[in-house]
Amino acid sequence: MRGIILSGGSGTRLRPLTKITSKQLLPIYNRPMIYYPLNTLVKAGIKEILIIVAPESAGDYLNLLGSGKEFGVKFTYEIQDHPEGLAQAFIIGENFIDREDVVMILGDNIFEDDVSDAIKSFKGGAKIFAKKVPDPERFGVVKFDKNMKVEKIAEKPQEHLSDYAVTGLYIYDHRVIQAAKEINPSARGELEIADVNNWFLAKGELEVAMVEEEWLDAGTFDSLLKAQNFAKEKLVAKMVI
Ligand code: DAU
Repeated sequence: MRGIILSGGSGTRLRPLTKITSKQLLPIYNRPMIYYPLNTLVKAGIKEILIIVAPESAGDYLNLLGSGKEFGVKFTYEIQDHPEGLAQAFIIGENFIDREDVVMILGDNIFEDDVSDAIKSFKGGAKIFAKKVPDPERFGVVKFDKNMKVEKIAEKPQEHLSDYAVTGLYIYDHRVIQAAKEINPSARGELEIADVNNWFLAKGELEVAMVEEEWLDAGTFDSLLKAQNFAKEKLVAKMVI
């Protein structure tokens, strides 16, 4: 299993904090934000990790994280020239993924769960992780039918489809490269991860697992503050990096 941390984007929702640095390098209590998703992968035993960054902050990532030796892993770096969608990561990472399975985590997502078992039990297709939230409209959402079978994944739907947000952790087999190449950009001009998930759903190969413990997307001022406090109170003591 290979790992990808997607850490590009322009961080516009956090301006002016992100005017001079990448969002995922901002401090969450005593560590840079990216340490938290990195910790999730390292804890799960992932050894080869691709870090995808925006061109203007590539040097900062290299200075901070280096080869990976310090963490007992090997880093590869790629630049995403423009933030053209989460699913573009699989096109950028085509050679890195090769014929392996891949777990992708977003650089601003903070998980308390240990996902080792979820990764070890992965048998192909797609596995995504959902969490019941009070504000699903901020996220990708899982729509279930009346038998709780997954009907579709919708990106920030305007109407209420369910309370289950899709978190920023995704496991796929290597066909994710093909999926990312086959989908078309959305109205906002991005290759949407929701479309990749629906690609696997159409083949009957999408599994939705639940996140049991705390999950935070630190991409807004309020969630950043919440993440800081949560890291201090609970998370830092359990980290391996
Ligand atoms: O946090 C979970 C949510 O993440 C999911 O529920 C959504 O389905 C998913 O689209 C995403 O929503 P966001 O609104 O948080 O997406 P955002 O554009 O903020 O991008 C998420 C992270 O990925 C962010 O840290 C920046 C990075 N990114 C984003 C894009 C679009 C890239 O590195 N490259 C990109 O092209």
